[in-house]
Amino acid sequence: MDEKKMGGMSVSVLTIFPDMIKSFIKFGIVKRAIEKKLFSVEIINIRDSATDRHRTVDDTPYGGGSGMIIKPDILAASLKSAKPFREGRIPRVFFLTPQGRRLDQSYANEISLLDEYVLVCGRYRAVDERFRELYVTDELSIGDYVISGGEAAAMVVIDAVTRLLPGVLNDFESGIDDSFQNGMLDCPWYTRPETFEGRRVPDVLVSGNHSEIQKWRSIKSLQRTKEKRPDLLNQK
Ligand code: ADE
Repeated sequence: MDEKKMGGMSVSVLTIFPDMIKSFIKFGIVKRAIEKKLFSVEIINIRDSATDRHRTVDDTPYGGGSGMIIKPDILAASLKSAKPFREGRIPRVFFLTPQGRRLDQSYANEISLLDEYVLVCGRYRAVDERFRELYVTDELSIGDYVISGGEAAAMVVIDAVTRLLPGVLNDFESGIDDSFQNGMLDCPWYTRPETFEGRRVPDVLVSGNHSEIQKWRSIKSLQRTKEKRPDLLNQK
């Protein structure tokens, strides 16, 4: 096996707010995937590629207008400092933008098959179009709304993709029954106490009859999907 495979999947994140990503990867499943060496994250501060005393990464738009534009030369230099490029490989470069392909479970599954990928977080008004044309291979949106920068979107992508990597989830967390992974919403779940504010747990769940429980769960899953997200059933 080659070296990059041995360390599991790796992602390089380009951002002007590296601390946002740094703190995100210290928790939960992402943290554990890193500890198990199934996944690694390289966080690159775009400002480290600035060349002036003020570490400038943006400038005003040609033609006028409000807002600032991230400079293509700085962003390209930053990208080339990422591990895949340093090691002579050309990775998929995902730019986070509301103009991109919308993230869903099947897109997350596709990304989870890559050995490595790069996430570029935009800020300000835009990034220079020439950077997009020359370096971005994929544009990804987390939904039809605008957030203030790509960082929160990058966290969503990293979370959704990392939990799909083999060995990351334990049996209890197994993604197979997750909402969307099988194209349906998850069934309802209950824990103790058996009666809460007058409401009892469904009898079947305390019956000990595992095949009946399985049957009940698939029926509920289908019912919920019909009720809340009928569009998911039509996609099949
Ligand atoms: N940056 C700003 N809005 C975004 C969105 N909806 N998805 C991804 N990146 C974004």
